[in-house]
Amino acid sequence: MAEFIPVETFDIVIFGATGDLTQRKLLPALYHRWLDGQIPADSRILGSARSEMSQEAFQAFAKSACKDGSGADWDEAQWTEFAALLSYHGMDATAANAPWDELKAALSGVPGRPCIFYLATAPRLYVSICQALGKAGLNSPDARVVLEKPIGTDLASAKAINDGVAAVFEEKAVYRIDHYLGKETVQNLMVLRFANALFEPVWSRAEVDHVQITVSESLGVDQRADYYDSSGALRDMVQNHMLQLLCLTAMEPPGSMHENDVRTEKIKVLHALRRFTPQEAKEKTVRAQYTSGLVEGKAVPGYLEALSADTPSKTETFVAVLAEIDNWRWAGVPFYLRTGKRMRERKSEIVIQFKPAPHSIFGDIGTAVNRLVIRLQPKEAVRLYIQIKEPGPGGLRVKSLPLDLSYAENFTTRYPDAYERLLMDVVRGNLSLFMRRDEVEAAWRWVDDLINAWTELDEPLDTYPAGSNGPSSADFLLRREGRAWWETNI
Ligand code: BG6
Repeated sequence: MAEFIPVETFDIVIFGATGDLTQRKLLPALYHRWLDGQIPADSRILGSARSEMSQEAFQAFAKSACKDGSGADWDEAQWTEFAALLSYHGMDATAANAPWDELKAALSGVPGRPCIFYLATAPRLYVSICQALGKAGLNSPDARVVLEKPIGTDLASAKAINDGVAAVFEEKAVYRIDHYLGKETVQNLMVLRFANALFEPVWSRAEVDHVQITVSESLGVDQRADYYDSSGALRDMVQNHMLQLLCLTAMEPPGSMHENDVRTEKIKVLHALRRFTPQEAKEKTVRAQYTSGLVEGKAVPGYLEALSADTPSKTETFVAVLAEIDNWRWAGVPFYLRTGKRMRERKSEIVIQFKPAPHSIFGDIGTAVNRLVIRLQPKEAVRLYIQIKEPGPGGLRVKSLPLDLSYAENFTTRYPDAYERLLMDVVRGNLSLFMRRDEVEAAWRWVDDLINAWTELDEPLDTYPAGSNGPSSADFLLRREGRAWWETNI
């Protein structure tokens, strides 16, 4: 049974309070934590954005945000109690004449009470909002600042943001969110690896043939086309979510779950990632853009048609990378990463493919390999494929079948959204699921090399029809080494 331990009373100010993230994730996450009795009733939730909005209008906005997804379980009395925590403060936080005194007056100001500033704004505003917070004297020892990804668009801009924020807040007060780290199944990666002694002896180049990490999405870029076109799949997904998954899969066992133990092991992986030269980028990476096609039975336009721009965009909506980790554990083991928009299905999955048995006493029929398939979403599951004898007469037949641990069959609890866990961790002051400054910068260093290599190569993008598994060049990346992407459905 899930148990919710209440956190201490806190104040949170959400900048960008009328935006998409607040609406889809932050308000519903806080509301769910409230419903589970985790948020004390004297906490305060302040929304702030540039738009002028009455308290009533903000309440209505928040109500519809929290209602979406609650379905038939909506409880008006609970909502009314939660709504009493909310208030709205319209202001341009970067303007010289911003009414900080009014915002300060709305905060409890109780010494020792966590005061969280969540920057759900464009990253270019992070530094100026932090400077304004500092000027208003809101960077007290109780203050914490939460930064959404992307932290910058390359190493230089990430450093500039980190430096600007560091001038106002100490590193231990800075919570850089990668929401993948808040997902239940991503946290389970650590439990799977480090609470089961079984895996450690086979978790290295001695037994692992290769690793695949796929995060495919059936959605396109829709309303986010402007942001996405200046970003692309490498910056939007690989620099953060995919590299975090790679780190959790490849890192050495940390000494404890303490934030710095975990983050120090992850950063060692990032430092050991082989950096790309243009020649290597040509051989080991694929980037592509979707064209029109059928996704889940529905005709959808191609990426270029979805954009309003006049000039054809060179932004990739798909990327596949053969990453290599130069350390003793993983030398020679390819990590194939793949992510894309408008693909056949929504699926995040890690596949550890083991080496074949050294000799098959069953001849050709006993040569299939073992695989550990970790399905992160949807249909969360852990499946270990093993070979068994198919029962019955007619000669010996060997079949590959999974030992199957499906979440749905084993757990009936609702899985909290990643933001619920992460927001409560900010209140608790637990940084382990947040990215440290050096981690973000190490990830950018690797990504920057790749971007520079692509720029130097200046090759046209591949294409793939919407609703497919990506371009054939991504299949070739594995096929030329006698491997294939794991496409089996759960
Ligand atoms: C975000 C990206 O960080 O993650 C989006 O900006 C992407 O482009 C999203 O769609 C995927 O998150 P999830 O939780 O739906 O897998």
